[in-house]
Amino acid sequence: MDTFDSVKEEAVKAVEEAKDLSGLQEARITWLGKKGKIQGLMAEMKNLPKEEKPAFGQKVNGLKKTVSELIEERQKVLQAEALKQRLQSEKIDITLDGEKMERGTIHPLIMIQQELEDLFIGMGYKVAEGPEVEQDYYNFELANLPKDHPARDMQDTFYIDPSTLLRTHTTAIQMRELEKAHGQLPIKLICPGKVYRRDDDDATHSHQFMQCEGLVVGEHITLADLKGTLEFMANAMFGEGRKVRFRPSYFPFTEPSVEVDVSCPFCNGKGCSVCKGSGWIEILGAGMVHPHVLEMNGFDPKKCSGFAFGVGLERVAMLKYGIDDIRNFYTDDIRFLKNFDRFD
Ligand code: DAH
Repeated sequence: MDTFDSVKEEAVKAVEEAKDLSGLQEARITWLGKKGKIQGLMAEMKNLPKEEKPAFGQKVNGLKKTVSELIEERQKVLQAEALKQRLQSEKIDITLDGEKMERGTIHPLIMIQQELEDLFIGMGYKVAEGPEVEQDYYNFELANLPKDHPARDMQDTFYIDPSTLLRTHTTAIQMRELEKAHGQLPIKLICPGKVYRRDDDDATHSHQFMQCEGLVVGEHITLADLKGTLEFMANAMFGEGRKVRFRPSYFPFTEPSVEVDVSCPFCNGKGCSVCKGSGWIEILGAGMVHPHVLEMNGFDPKKCSGFAFGVGLERVAMLKYGIDDIRNFYTDDIRFLKNFDRFD
């Protein structure tokens, strides 16, 4: 009985004094484990008279229960303490100064592209894309520019091999879409993208620039539809009251072809330094899709017609934001790009 009492005392003390959860686990093994000290008391049984054995057995079991209850209680306390400590040590001081994240801005050319996409999607157009490394076939041949056609010189081309090139205009995407549709009407799409030409870079030329093509093919499409569409676009891009005028021009893939001017948004057509006194600013090339182009792509030019236009995004952005050097778009000068923060 002495042994029993001292084991009980020691066990209670060990549990109460366990400083942390691992200490408590140790105590659990020492006292309650299969080879633990309480189990060890059972060995005492053989020294007891027979009639005392059951009572002793009960006492030992009672002690097991008491100790395991004590351990459980202690565990709750220690767990709460551990949690408190963890919360303390991992506390975030929300009053500390944060590190300001640098936010990027949308590139002005992409802003123009998105603006055009929104505008034309609103009129039921779809947006088409194509590869920048293009086949001569789509960039030239299907656009009514067979090999040795003199108008190929209008666009100084980066050739990769005799049949592969960096596309010189988004008209290549237009041709892919026409080929894909193969006579299926109607077609109503825009194709924005990067294009490349072997130009020497200066304030108004860049060997890489962006265009957005527009293409509509259907029954009874006329030059008047083209004019109305471009007027709508000019008003949306440069402000209400813009007028549009057509001047005759030449592109191999359109007939007739026109050069399109917008009434100067800076002087409202009166004449200023931006429009060089003329009141008009040239912004794009356009025309009625050449019957031969329609034919080559499986359309019957007697049954349908189409208009197309191609606009340079740099030109639009330069006019809209008053930028005087095209190279600004490609030199990634953060001071330039930061100007466009406020347009987000
Ligand atoms: N592809 C022409 C260029 O890059 C622009 C152009 C003119 C596109 C007339 C057209 C068009 O779709 O109809 O200079």
